[in-house]
Amino acid sequence: MKAAVEKLRSICFFSPVFLISVFVFVLPVAATGSPEIFSVVLPADNSMVEGDFVSVVVKVNSGSPDALRVSRNNSDVSNAPVHEGKDYYCRTIALAYGPDEITVSALKGGKIVETKKVTVFHRSDISKEYHINPPEFTNNPFHTGDKRNECGLCHRMELSEKDIKPANPGDSMCYQCHKRITSYSNVHGPAARWACLTCHDKSSSPVAFSTKQPDRDACYTCHQEEKEKWTRKKYFHGPTATGKCTLCHNPHASNNPFWLRKPTWDLCVTCHEDRASGAHVIVGFGSGTHPTKGRPDPLRYGKELTCASCHNPHASNSKALFRNDDDDPYNLCKACHKYK
Ligand code: HEC
Ligand code: HEC
Ligand code: HEC
Ligand code: HEC
Ligand code: HEC
Ligand code: HEC
Ligand code: HEC
Ligand code: HEC
Repeated sequence: MKAAVEKLRSICFFSPVFLISVFVFVLPVAATGSPEIFSVVLPADNSMVEGDFVSVVVKVNSGSPDALRVSRNNSDVSNAPVHEGKDYYCRTIALAYGPDEITVSALKGGKIVETKKVTVFHRSDISKEYHINPPEFTNNPFHTGDKRNECGLCHRMELSEKDIKPANPGDSMCYQCHKRITSYSNVHGPAARWACLTCHDKSSSPVAFSTKQPDRDACYTCHQEEKEKWTRKKYFHGPTATGKCTLCHNPHASNNPFWLRKPTWDLCVTCHEDRASGAHVIVGFGSGTHPTKGRPDPLRYGKELTCASCHNPHASNSKALFRNDDDDPYNLCKACHKYK
């Protein structure tokens, strides 16, 4: 029965009745200008984006262009030949924080015959400049309503049993459209296995695939040990106390250890700019400064000294969040400086 409905849908899409209805609908609009060669299906103009990527989906309508060019902030990101009979072109691109202007051009005989621009805003809590979303950019979640008629022409849009524990990434329904999400050097266990549905709720509504809020509820389902360790401590670090673990950690992957959104030192000084000099470390021991990076960490072989060499980013029994849980800074010094 379901298969039959699907079949009917795909037939309807190409049937003369359908085409005529589209024609009638489009005609009055087209009459005011030349017909569109292509339309940008996604992303919607003035969307706010929280992830590091956005997907550009272009539909070629008429005019048989030879190629489509996509650029972001005036740098080309792709150039795809247009094939006879293929009308949809999909491409996921990486974004920079702040406004990203995406330009799509259709080319014919080496000349640009049509250009369209959409602007999206990549907001982030750890961007000093772009942590607040300007009001003209709005959140436009993709996974709402039924996308089977459009995307389902080529993509599998229904979940199946194998999406819970896919044997290969390619078996995951999500992989078709989100493969870029794990394209980093460090990938978090469950994302590496494309077990996306361990955190993304398949029956959430009205937006499908949302995650538990705050994040810590999702994280602690597996990280029980950390939960117990940290909740026994006297002090929680401000941002960790909010439960938004993804403020600092990308839940999927990143090029930094612990899938941090920025290298540790850069992450900390985003919010604690005044500590970057290291002058705070030896208050009471003279007027010099203490290195906070760029030296080997004496306590952690093979790692560089960072703010986390002395402070625990999550919780501690010391008010200054010292790693050794001891309020006395001198005991901290002694851990690295045996001679003192
Ligand atoms: C460990 C839990 C976890 C797993 C596993 C996981 N996600 Fe997520 N995902 C999240 C959380 C939490 C957010 C919200 C992040 C935020 O608020 O910035 C999110 C956000 C997203 C977003 C929105 C954009 C972004 O990057 O914030 C996409 C797309 C996404 N996930 C896709 C996937 C796919 C595809 C998989 C499988 C490879 C997956 N996720 C696996 C926890 C997870
Ligand atoms: C005419 C068939 C067709 C339709 C319709 C279609 N796609 Fe695609 N899409 C593809 C193909 C084929 C690929 C793989 C392209 C590749 O690997 O180069 C793809 C890949 C993608 C990707 C991954 C691109 C990348 O760079 O990793 C995304 C995201 C995507 N499609 C989203 C969508 C969305 C959203 C819709 C509906 C609005 C849609 N597609 C409709 C054929 C289609
Ligand atoms: C047909 C392509 C397609 C498939 C299949 C798909 N997604 Fe998406 N998803 C998108 C697009 C497009 C966006 C908007 C963000 C972007 O442009 O990359 C998106 C956004 C999201 C978001 C952010 C919230 C939202 O609704 O915009 C989450 C979370 C997400 N996807 C999770 C998943 C998970 C988990 C799966 C697999 C169960 C999945 N997606 C399968 C295309 C797809
Ligand atoms: C489905 C279970 C699962 C969930 C849910 C989960 N994790 Fe993990 N996490 C793992 C596994 C397994 C490992 C160890 C394997 C690896 O390195 O990926 C891990 C490792 C980590 C590590 C590195 C630990 C180390 O000592 O190297 C960090 C950081 C982390 N997870 C953060 C998170 C955050 C943040 C969340 C919530 C957004 C989360 N995890 C949710 C399973 C999970
Ligand atoms: C302020 C930023 C920040 C927040 C918020 C944060 N983390 Fe971390 N996390 C880090 C840093 C930095 C490290 C690496 C520490 C190091 O180098 O020892 C880390 C390491 C980890 C590790 C590896 C093991 C360990 O204990 O060091 C896990 C697991 C982890 N975080 C999970 C979480 C979870 C779960 C949450 C939410 C409850 C969270 N983090 C919130 C910054 C943060
Ligand atoms: C998103 C912003 C943010 C980031 C990133 C961040 N912090 Fe914090 N930090 C805070 C806030 C907010 C407080 C609480 C300030 C207060 O209560 O006065 C805090 C407090 C602290 C304290 C003092 C605790 C106290 O009660 O006085 C230390 C130490 C600290 N952070 C270290 C770090 C380190 C190390 C990192 C990097 C791993 C880091 N922070 C990353 C926002 C941040
Ligand atoms: C070598 C050890 C060490 C390193 C590295 C270090 N700190 Fe500290 N930090 C300390 C000590 C010691 C104190 C307590 C100073 C005092 O008592 O006034 C402190 C205090 C703080 C406080 C205030 C806590 C309070 O209770 O008032 C913050 C915030 C802080 N550090 C952030 C950072 C950040 C951010 C970095 C990285 C740029 C960093 N620290 C690197 C040792 C360190
Ligand atoms: C996590 C390890 C660690 C802790 C804790 C630590 N230091 Fe250091 N300290 C270092 C490293 C690494 C250097 C650089 C050594 C080098 O370059 O040879 C350094 C250098 C110094 C120097 C020389 C300054 C310079 O410019 O090279 C002084 C003085 C010093 N530390 C005092 C302290 C005091 C006081 C404390 C306690 C408040 C402390 N340190 C805590 C690791 C640490």
